[in-house]
Amino acid sequence: MKVGVIGSGMMGAGIAQVSAAAGHQVVLTDVALDRAEKGKAGIEKLLARQVAKGTLEEAAAAATLARISPAGDTAGLADADFVIEAATENEGLKQKIFAGLTLAPHALLATNTSSISITMLGASTDRPDRFLGLHFFNPVPVMQLVEIIPGLATSDATRAAARDYIGTLGKTAIVSEDSPSFIVNRVLCPMLNEAIFALGEGVGSVVDIDTGLRLGANHPMGPLTLADFVGLDTLLAIMHVMQKASGDPKYRPAPLLTKYVEAGWYGRKSGRGFYDYSGEKPVPTR
Ligand code: 3HC
Repeated sequence: MKVGVIGSGMMGAGIAQVSAAAGHQVVLTDVALDRAEKGKAGIEKLLARQVAKGTLEEAAAAATLARISPAGDTAGLADADFVIEAATENEGLKQKIFAGLTLAPHALLATNTSSISITMLGASTDRPDRFLGLHFFNPVPVMQLVEIIPGLATSDATRAAARDYIGTLGKTAIVSEDSPSFIVNRVLCPMLNEAIFALGEGVGSVVDIDTGLRLGANHPMGPLTLADFVGLDTLLAIMHVMQKASGDPKYRPAPLLTKYVEAGWYGRKSGRGFYDYSGEKPVPTR
């Protein structure tokens, strides 16, 4: 199958990597060729690490890489069978991308959104019946789950094709209703937001809050480490969508989260969040 991935950031590159590793031909597009090439270079690094660890054969890594073609525009998606958009979490931007696409009539189009309405995004495309949400988790090569989110107009055939594709990746699919933040983020993001409230109110330090959830609840990462990992801008956008869609004040973003995003402290990707990532090891900032 030919898979198109729009957006070569953390999520898009991860989706491209697992698709290529599963044997699909992949076109990885971004707004400029050098960005898409940077996405592919990141995949190369991760594969090289696996080869060095002895968990992946050198030939398999080379074959995976060879199946990924970076591109600076979406022209190469014209004969793709399955196109997955993984651009920034912004509904206007996503709609603009969909409006600029020329896809084969049979092609399925998916959005990797964390929280935006699939029905609304689907209605802005030329194929609401062949459109759906596919929510991958970060880091994509490691996380086993993908949420399938059909919109109101998504056909049964599209759902089945999406499940088949996820099966080829060796991942597990669950189905969520098209409800703000779907299943996993509905539960996870308010927990991360609550940890930031606790930090802002001085209930505990960064290290104590993270250690608390790691050792007291067996989470693999503390919530502040995970918020930095997900991206504080992304987390804030998700809380805004949940708050707006539900009108429920329980989803209001923690003031400290808003402040950090205003400062440009987006977490790991910007070099600073609740930890400072400029040195060899992350250093807690509060
Ligand atoms: N990309 C690719 N592979 C990675 C990776 C990355 N960024 N980080 C770690 N890995 C791989 C390692 O190479 C290693 O692979 P191996 O077993 O083949 O050697 C494996 O993951 C384990 O890594 P480590 O031993 O270095 O570290 P940990 O055991 O601490 O695991 C972790 C790292 C898998 C990231 C783990 O800490 C974890 O599961 N954290 C929670 C992640 C999580 O909750 N993600 C969901 C976020 S929410 C989301 O994405 C939704 C969005 O909409 C907001």
